[in-house]
Amino acid sequence: MNHLFFSSSPPATTPVAVPDVQAALAAALQTVRRNIDDWGDSYPGDTTHDGRYARRSAGDGIAAGGNHGWTTSFWPGMQWLSWEISGDEAFRSAAQSHAADFSERVRGGIDLDTHDLGFLYSLGSLTASRMASDPAIRDDARDAALLAADHLMARFLEPAGIIQAWGDLSDPAQAGRTIIDSLMNMPLLTWAAEQTGEPRYSDAVRRHIAQLQAHILRPDDTTFHTFYWDVETGLPLRGATEQGAFHDSCWARGQAWGIYGFAINSRATGDPLLRDAAWRCAGYFLSHLPDDDVPYWDLVYQDGSTEPRDSSAAAIAACGLLELARLEDDPERAGAATAAAHRLVSALIAHCAPKNSTDSDALILRGVYDLPKNVGVNEGTLWGDYFYLEALVRIAHPEWVTYW
Ligand code: GLY
Repeated sequence: MNHLFFSSSPPATTPVAVPDVQAALAAALQTVRRNIDDWGDSYPGDTTHDGRYARRSAGDGIAAGGNHGWTTSFWPGMQWLSWEISGDEAFRSAAQSHAADFSERVRGGIDLDTHDLGFLYSLGSLTASRMASDPAIRDDARDAALLAADHLMARFLEPAGIIQAWGDLSDPAQAGRTIIDSLMNMPLLTWAAEQTGEPRYSDAVRRHIAQLQAHILRPDDTTFHTFYWDVETGLPLRGATEQGAFHDSCWARGQAWGIYGFAINSRATGDPLLRDAAWRCAGYFLSHLPDDDVPYWDLVYQDGSTEPRDSSAAAIAACGLLELARLEDDPERAGAATAAAHRLVSALIAHCAPKNSTDSDALILRGVYDLPKNVGVNEGTLWGDYFYLEALVRIAHPEWVTYW
């Protein structure tokens, strides 16, 4: 292994070029275009099966292909990215046609018992409120995103000062539990604070993140996947995993959510300690990669292991590193973050993108959803595809305005 570890003092590094980025973008857009034609208005499943996405399965009262679960917004998210970099109205038209589904979902109270409202409504509605061509769609999407923010706020638990991740708030199994991924759900609340001028949203963001920084990020710079607080007293209880190898291991995607999530919340709050937290997550992630730079699904596994990789963790980490590079005043640290992101994206292009875009519906293969439950192992994932495309866009268009 030969990886940077720059939690304190990064080495001076010149960003490596990603020579294939334009070709990779062209291939990705070809796949997105083909998928729009194949899928119409419906939503694919969370992951591929043998490299192909099937129509999303039916849910509780929701027809097959309908908008439920936590990953549907990554699909219009890819379409918005494709429109922004190509200017092709077919992408925008497809993206904005999904905005009505997200409005109906939040207005109809469909599958809202989750903190993932941030993932869903940042891409499904907030982005539409900025970029839809039709002002009526923009206004409706803005209202839907604000409604979703209020549903998310209803999950804020006093006295712990955390947003509960999963389940009905009356479910004792999930009571007082939050997870590292929740950092990515905070931008919806930050935006709601800006839109309404109401500080309750940004206060919730600050308190929730402070709890994660103190408890989910461990002293050795690894992260717990999930952490419980006592709902009565607000005291921190214990860390635990659901999707990692074991409670004290370091689930690769969780660590990547930590890099990106602490970075975007540092930008939102102006708190440099959150940027330090993102660097700590990044340092551990980068120093626990195998030689080909595609992380194992849990960072406890190292070169020589036969465990599956998680390409989506690399895609998320790359976006997080590119965000960190933007946040850095110090050119050496910015250069180190950019170089590390470029290495991860180069590895994704070389080892995870299909050799021909027609070989798969996914933009990148070799992801893992939930290995302990044997769900989506060694497959494409909707979020891996989205963050891979976002990373390519960030590299090719450094001026790109974030959706988070
Ligand atoms: N946010 C859920 C996951 O990363 O699997």
